[in-house]
Amino acid sequence: MPDAAGISRLRAEFEAALAGAATEPALREVRDRYLARKGGVVTSLMKAVATAPPADRPELGRLANQFKREVEEAIEARRAALETGRPAAGAVDITLPGRRPPLGHLHPLTHVRRQVESIFGRMGYEILEGPEIEDDYHCFEALNMPPEHPARDMQDTFFLGQAVPQRGLGTPGTRTSTRPAPPDRPATLLRTHTSAMQIRYMEAHEPPVRIVAIGKVFRRDNPDLTHTPMFHQFEGLLVDEGVTFADLKGTLTAFVRDIFAPDTKVMFRPSFFPYTEPSAEMFIGCVFCGGAGCPVCKRTGWLEILGSGMVHPSVLEAVGYDAERYSGFAFGTGIERVAMLKYGVDDIRLFYENDLRFLEQFAF
Ligand code: DAH
Repeated sequence: MPDAAGISRLRAEFEAALAGAATEPALREVRDRYLARKGGVVTSLMKAVATAPPADRPELGRLANQFKREVEEAIEARRAALETGRPAAGAVDITLPGRRPPLGHLHPLTHVRRQVESIFGRMGYEILEGPEIEDDYHCFEALNMPPEHPARDMQDTFFLGQAVPQRGLGTPGTRTSTRPAPPDRPATLLRTHTSAMQIRYMEAHEPPVRIVAIGKVFRRDNPDLTHTPMFHQFEGLLVDEGVTFADLKGTLTAFVRDIFAPDTKVMFRPSFFPYTEPSAEMFIGCVFCGGAGCPVCKRTGWLEILGSGMVHPSVLEAVGYDAERYSGFAFGTGIERVAMLKYGVDDIRLFYENDLRFLEQFAF
């Protein structure tokens, strides 16, 4: 039979048990032990009080009820205390490892462009862009392609309309040579090659000249594996006294050995461009088969990488340079062409489709 001393003992035991319940599962266990409907210490006490002699019942009942309230309140207070020690639902748990946000990277054409800029930059070349809207004079005529010249057909041109007068690149009027002013030609067009920048730069600067012009060019081509109506080129020009074909070969060999591999084999083959004489196409040993012959190099072991030559005296004269005193070399090619050979891309259109499965291969 319970009595006041017994209830005091139960209270002391409960306080010890509660003090030891430092976690939520431990607390749940204490609550079950004391408050479970079946067999809980408090529940059993209440039942025992109900069967006590009638004279003792009021006092025992009061003590038992008071104990029950204390147990309930103490357990609830402890439960609340444990809960506030834990991050509330939706709160930031600063102990979790971070989630990495997706990080972008450069487009493969930008990788190649930057390498070209870096290689020629280290060789002392100035890097330029120049206008994409050109006029007939800078794109063709001053490059030794008079109106009826058949080489104009080599590049099918997007014509825009009447010419906006465009002068040299530099500060107007800084050069006071006797060079002829560019004639007022009627046609404006989207430049078909970055070679136009040779003329713009030389119109505004005296030799020595050492530039690389990079940017978009446009041709009326239907897209296929190797053609798109817009692509990118870079154009180099060096003019000074005593520049020879050996300088051209040395410079371009250093370039391809830097951008491809240090042991890249090179070959120069005679060619024709109206603005160079002599002209040469440069080939590199096939980067896919090592020269043994494969479908990419059409079994020749060689890949054409760029066009080049010694600047034609007519071009030097068109900008008022003394062609007896100065000589130079020029070269040009497509950024896409270099990128396709460097990365083994067999369809130029992949560069423009923004398919992440393609682009993500260039995350470096
Ligand atoms: N302009 C030529 C093209 O569009 C490339 C080129 C060839 C540039 C020979 C040159 C050069 O400066 O000398 O394909």
